[in-house]
Amino acid sequence: MKLFSGNSNLPLAKKLAGDLGLSLGKLEITTFPDNENRARVIDRVVDEKVVVIESTGISPNHYYMELFFILDSIHRSGAEFITLVAPYLGYQRQDHIFRDGEAVSLEVIIKILESLGVSKVISFDLHSIKIPELFHVQVDHLSALPIFAGEIEKMFNSNLEDVVLVSPDMGGIRRVEELSRLLNGRADFISIDKDRDLNSGSVQSVKINGRVKKTAIIVDDVISTGQTLISATKLLEKNGAKKVMVMATHGVFSDNAAENLQRSDIEKVIVTDTLDIPVERQFGKLQIVSVSNLISEALSK
Ligand code: R5P
Repeated sequence: MKLFSGNSNLPLAKKLAGDLGLSLGKLEITTFPDNENRARVIDRVVDEKVVVIESTGISPNHYYMELFFILDSIHRSGAEFITLVAPYLGYQRQDHIFRDGEAVSLEVIIKILESLGVSKVISFDLHSIKIPELFHVQVDHLSALPIFAGEIEKMFNSNLEDVVLVSPDMGGIRRVEELSRLLNGRADFISIDKDRDLNSGSVQSVKINGRVKKTAIIVDDVISTGQTLISATKLLEKNGAKKVMVMATHGVFSDNAAENLQRSDIEKVIVTDTLDIPVERQFGKLQIVSVSNLISEALSK
């Protein structure tokens, strides 16, 4: 197996290479003065099983173009089988038409990836469990929930009577249900009804379905602006939560998310390293855990 990485998440790629006992394959990736990208594979890949890792959540347009050229260079050079590890798959939230006349961005991305010879995709906590069905190739849909279950065990020493797992919207209910199952049903789970204005993108948490406890752990797939979490936290506090924590797989932290989350009442925000979070998007309450082992296990199967 040969492993190549784009530039979006080199720390995770290097960790993964270490876990797999491999070194990263050689690519030449350059940018022209007009910002166009160029990619060339240097190592021989003829008849090889190749893994390419790229995370397209921060600067998705730039890193998707880089990824397309890396894949094309490897495909043209005769690789036998290409697995794409996309720890975060950009554009996944536009997976269907929300308003008349919209593009289905994720379908466009899938068409391009498949036309560039991708035979298998490994990704984490996709926005909807239906996303793998949009692909024509195998998708290994991994989850960071086992890591979060471990973190909860460490923090609460199995003492979970005062803890409730919270989905900040109805779409995420299966996540908290699964996390509760991983904790052997020792933590209850509830959900919140959330309204999002599709034109402005603004978010309002309107209603809690279930009983709030002293400690609320909000579980989500992705944090972008942080509005969902901040709005959910206010509603949970109004309904009796004394301590609110967050566990989310992908930390995009766009706009002023880092600043706003640091200033909020949320006590701790745990995300994974599916995205390489630049220093300016990191903040004191943030803790980052690694998914590298889960990827290496999936690749070793
Ligand atoms: C939405 O359905 C997702 O699960 C996340 O809750 C959402 O994308 C987070 O976005 P933001 O941080 O901008 O509220």
